[in-house]
Amino acid sequence: MGKCPSCASWNTLIEEKVVTTGSSSGKKLETKKASVAKRIKEISFEDQPRLLVKDVELNRVLGGGIVPGSLVLIGGEPGIGKSTLMLQLALNVENLKVLYISGEESEQQIKMRADRVGLKSNEDTFVLTETNLDHIFNSIDKIQPQLIIADSIQTFQSTALESVAGSVSQVRQSTGELMKYAKESGVPVFLIGHITKDGSLAGPKVLEHMVDTVLQFEGDTHTSYRILRTTKNRFGSTSELGIYEMQNGGMKEILNPSELLISHRNDNLSGIAIGATMEGNRPILIEVQALVSPAAYGTPQRTSTGFDSKRLNMLLAVLEKRGGFRLGLQDVFINMAGGIKVEDPAIDLAVCVAIISSLEDIPLQPDCVFSAEVGLGGELRGINRLESRISEAEKLGFKEFYISNKNKQSNPDQNSKIDILSLGKLREVFSAVFG
Ligand code: TYD
Ligand code: MG
Repeated sequence: MGKCPSCASWNTLIEEKVVTTGSSSGKKLETKKASVAKRIKEISFEDQPRLLVKDVELNRVLGGGIVPGSLVLIGGEPGIGKSTLMLQLALNVENLKVLYISGEESEQQIKMRADRVGLKSNEDTFVLTETNLDHIFNSIDKIQPQLIIADSIQTFQSTALESVAGSVSQVRQSTGELMKYAKESGVPVFLIGHITKDGSLAGPKVLEHMVDTVLQFEGDTHTSYRILRTTKNRFGSTSELGIYEMQNGGMKEILNPSELLISHRNDNLSGIAIGATMEGNRPILIEVQALVSPAAYGTPQRTSTGFDSKRLNMLLAVLEKRGGFRLGLQDVFINMAGGIKVEDPAIDLAVCVAIISSLEDIPLQPDCVFSAEVGLGGELRGINRLESRISEAEKLGFKEFYISNKNKQSNPDQNSKIDILSLGKLREVFSAVFG
């Protein structure tokens, strides 16, 4: 038809082929037998061993290694290091055939990067530069890899559809075909995905629904630290996070993040307090930086980086009302050092102490750690996982640990080198630390 019967404009119709007989992986769709409902206790289940890789941070964010047949999507902004991390994974596994499919870079570029990250290459790492899914599946059939990395899903093109690579339907189709392969063969597949300007994964939202695990690679391209965060995981917790540093020779895992996040410990500056938080199952000590200064213009500014700004406003109101501090005419800036976003409410107390330290310009003793939630009445509230927070602080040589008296320590360790101070109110903390 030349003219659209609906909107009456000419030459606006586009042909889109609908394919129902087969997929481009060459396999005909079989008519499946109808499933029968079973009692859940009748379903047998063998716990499949997970594949543990050398990269302990990756193992952690995946919930304890790679699950056979899983489809993992890893997203992040351009230049953040997705290709580097995945290539390192491909080179680092032992006794495993790996196929690294790249639709973005040439063989030479990949080889150059492999040399740059300087790993003794795994004998069985194959590289394929291809975007046509038919050819990709042919190579897969030939090589029979045990792990597949696809860089990136937006570059692949399935012949089942005529639309261009990167379009919504192509991304959905290519993911679907790779997913089908992963589920049928039990081979884990890592997909690299692009990120749009607003920070979401490019392509249809169904992409995130289809895959088993979504990892986000975050960080500032100006600093070298990178954070790998799980936003969806069918096989584990989503609160885990892995920390890396992009160095000249590739991505290095950071196994002791607390040491790195506490930079100014002995500088004797006001406005700095250390908080003990939990990220997933891992205790991390974080340096909270606050700057309080008289507002130059009428309306004071409240800016926070890495900390919820509504929560900051609430804490400021508590300090004003319950502590009697005049913050109404002050600009307040809060920063979590290292670019980490903290959601654990146990950071509240460290934020309050940092603010008052900056307001009064009194530096804190460098060896105190704070960990308590602050309530609207200015009271300190209990937190979970106290033991692991305390032991992390002790490991790093801190001497005083401030907590809420609602946290009953079940069996205080007699040999502990750290003093635990349990208090009830914000005011008591301030008189203890500022005198
Ligand atoms: P890359 O993995 O290509 O990012 P992505 O695939 O997410 O777009 O990483 C590219 C950046 O990393 C580039 O700016 C150079 C830097 N880089 C290093 O600093 N050290 C290295 O060893 C490598 C391989 C890259
Ligand atoms: Mg890349």
